[in-house]
Amino acid sequence: MSLLAPSILAADLAHLGDEVSACEEAGADRIHIDIMDNRFVPNLTMGPEVVAACRRSTSLLLEAHLMVERPDGIIPRFRAAGADLITVHVEACPELQRTVDLVRAEGADCGVGINPATPVESLIDILPEISLALVMTVEPGFGGQALLVPTLAKVRRLREMLEERQLSCDIEVDGGVDPSNAQQCLVAGASVLVAGTAVFKASGGTRAGVSCLLDLMGRPQSEAVRRA
Ligand code: DX5
Ligand code: ZN
Repeated sequence: MSLLAPSILAADLAHLGDEVSACEEAGADRIHIDIMDNRFVPNLTMGPEVVAACRRSTSLLLEAHLMVERPDGIIPRFRAAGADLITVHVEACPELQRTVDLVRAEGADCGVGINPATPVESLIDILPEISLALVMTVEPGFGGQALLVPTLAKVRRLREMLEERQLSCDIEVDGGVDPSNAQQCLVAGASVLVAGTAVFKASGGTRAGVSCLLDLMGRPQSEAVRRA
């Protein structure tokens, strides 16, 4: 089954708790929280306090996507704030094995992400130890960009690599995912779709944004959720 992870970067942050609750009520599976440090990416967003605020608003799995240079020192604070899954970037972690060990020692699941220009082969050695491989489908740093279609070839290659090695970690696509390309992402081999703009800026509102994507993912929804 494929999963939907709304990215709160596109949420109305003046009503964060309501936005997160709306996602949960509409059937989303996880909440994706984009942490940017203005070094690894040219933008500055949220810290552990925002993860803690989400934790107070939902029982859904919280994933912290750390677009942060050398994140080791801050990882324990994201875990303490309630992150269940912590994703770091290959490009930002010169001692990747140590960083992955640290995330797992903190008791969180670990994800590792790659930017559009980074080859999937950079994940080979770490794949057996992680729960999620994140393929950036835009250049990281901002929501609302168009999905870069060539990145889906990397998703296909990654799916083959997992099958060859009989590994079961999730493949997450992040950036520009919307109703026009969600199917394409799934066919390429993604198992988790991150969507910010397509959820929180949907014309019918957040619940409708979640429902529309879940429909396209072939996810059955209860009548109560459809009416919401
Ligand atoms: C980009 C972030 C994404 C972003 C996705 O650096 O990692 O999670 O919020 O937003 P949309 O779906 O608007 O592209
Ligand atoms: Zn993200």
